[in-house]
Amino acid sequence: METAEPVAPDMTEDIDEILVTGEEIRTRLAELGKLLDADYAGESPLLVGVLKGAFMLMSDLVRHMHTPVSVDFMACSSYGSATRTSGVVRILKDLDTDIEGRHVLLVEDIVDSGLTLDYLMKNLRARRPASLEVLALLTKPAARRVEVPIRYRGFEVPDVFVVGYGLDYAERYRNLPFVGTLKPEVYQG
Ligand code: IMP
Repeated sequence: METAEPVAPDMTEDIDEILVTGEEIRTRLAELGKLLDADYAGESPLLVGVLKGAFMLMSDLVRHMHTPVSVDFMACSSYGSATRTSGVVRILKDLDTDIEGRHVLLVEDIVDSGLTLDYLMKNLRARRPASLEVLALLTKPAARRVEVPIRYRGFEVPDVFVVGYGLDYAERYRNLPFVGTLKPEVYQG
């Protein structure tokens, strides 16, 4: 039957290039899951996802782990332009969990300048966890302004703005199952 419903344009039409496929992400998360199981054997770590970007990563990552984990989330906003952070971070949602004495793994979508992560690490360290490590799906080494210790990495990407697999541009494209770049005309509106 014909429907009068308007059809939303396909998001994939806005993608210029796919940098990391869904298959590559699955394979890498399976490897990281094994590594985390080995490193946290006998412990029950707390995985802290940084919203909103890490929501998809967190959900897929924990399914690759057999270690009993707890999960919690933080949300922060960093002031800046649409595609660049300023380093001034505001916590919008704090943890529900007291992390003192816990083994904490901070789960980040992407480390770009490193300013957000640097702020979060200092903030969490002050709460005296037993350990604090970082897993980042994506890192942009060329964009780094402050050195941050990333123990577990998914993929390195060039210093370009990327979307998909949790990452957005103006709140769109988070549900793409891969990571890619946008066509220039998308930014120009
Ligand atoms: P940083 O403080 O510059 O490392 O940036 C941290 C945050 O900025 C990330 O957690 C993302 O939410 C956002 N971000 C940085 N680069 C990108 C990108 O290429 N695409 C989408 N979001 C990004």
